[in-house]
Amino acid sequence: MTATAPDLGSREFSFTDQDFRALAQLARAEFGLSLAESKKPLVYSRLARRLRARHISSFQDYMTLLGGQEEADERLELISALTTNVTSFFREKHHFDTLRRELMPQLAKQPRIRLWSAGCSSGQEPFSIAMTLLDALPETSRRNVRILATDIDPAIVRRARAARYPKEESETIPAELRRAWTKPCPEEDDQVEMSQTARQMISFAELNLIEPWPFHGPFDAIFCRNVAIYFDHDIQKTLWSRFAGMLRDGGFLFIGHSERVSGPALQSLTTAGVTTYRKTSASGPAVAT
Ligand SMILES: C[S@@+](CC[C@H](N)C(=O)[O-])C[C@H]1O[C@@H](n2cnc3c(N)ncnc32)[C@H](O)[C@@H]1O
Repeated sequence: MTATAPDLGSREFSFTDQDFRALAQLARAEFGLSLAESKKPLVYSRLARRLRARHISSFQDYMTLLGGQEEADERLELISALTTNVTSFFREKHHFDTLRRELMPQLAKQPRIRLWSAGCSSGQEPFSIAMTLLDALPETSRRNVRILATDIDPAIVRRARAARYPKEESETIPAELRRAWTKPCPEEDDQVEMSQTARQMISFAELNLIEPWPFHGPFDAIFCRNVAIYFDHDIQKTLWSRFAGMLRDGGFLFIGHSERVSGPALQSLTTAGVTTYRKTSASGPAVAT
């Protein structure tokens, strides 16, 4: 989270340490989020707008509201407020270079290819994977290729499915790939649209990563970048083990620039580059979800 802390002396809503602890507990239990005490001013500024939007006058009342059975949408607003959707095409480009250089020769021999963008935000990550495959793998669109792209936030998944992006944002796509796999958007001339071929390779879905996953894999590669950074350490360790269990032998796990795999997953995931891990064959079973 990056925002300027408000002056807590002139707060519009009362926000006690107890309110903060209750909120942190809920955010951990529902979404795996880790909210350190030091984040209190930031949490206040992020959530004050939700209190205004819902015409609520205290954090205590907001907590009561969040507990309501019919408030699933507000709980999603909470996670949107506490995390960021920042992403871009070919972000941390070295991962796409590894995908092309190290994984593609193996994928070229496989009848079935499965990749997962976990925490895909508005879709730039899975589309970067799709374009890399389309560019490097002959006849990709005729092969049995699926890219699963999931995120907890339904609004961001809808944006990803729409597959339209400001022209400016598309400039981080290498020129040749941009020419081949994006086209001008007919209704808005400051937007581009991803090609149908790229769109057809991706299945978008809502998924909270700390809940059970309704699929079994195995995946050839998992991209989970700049997501686990929000989770507390125990939840991160469980997540890494679950990813290890979802990878085929030799499969890759790509994580964000400030993240590191820790815990039991290190028995089966070995470092294979910067924030890149590869599953070795001597690994144990997946951790139960
Ligand atoms: C900073 S974006 C990262 C996007 C992309 N992976 C990248 O690196 O560019 C973090 C994404 O994680 C999602 N997220 C946060 N907590 C999550 C959870 N518990 N389950 C699934 N997605 C989550 C957010 O909704 C957000 O879209």
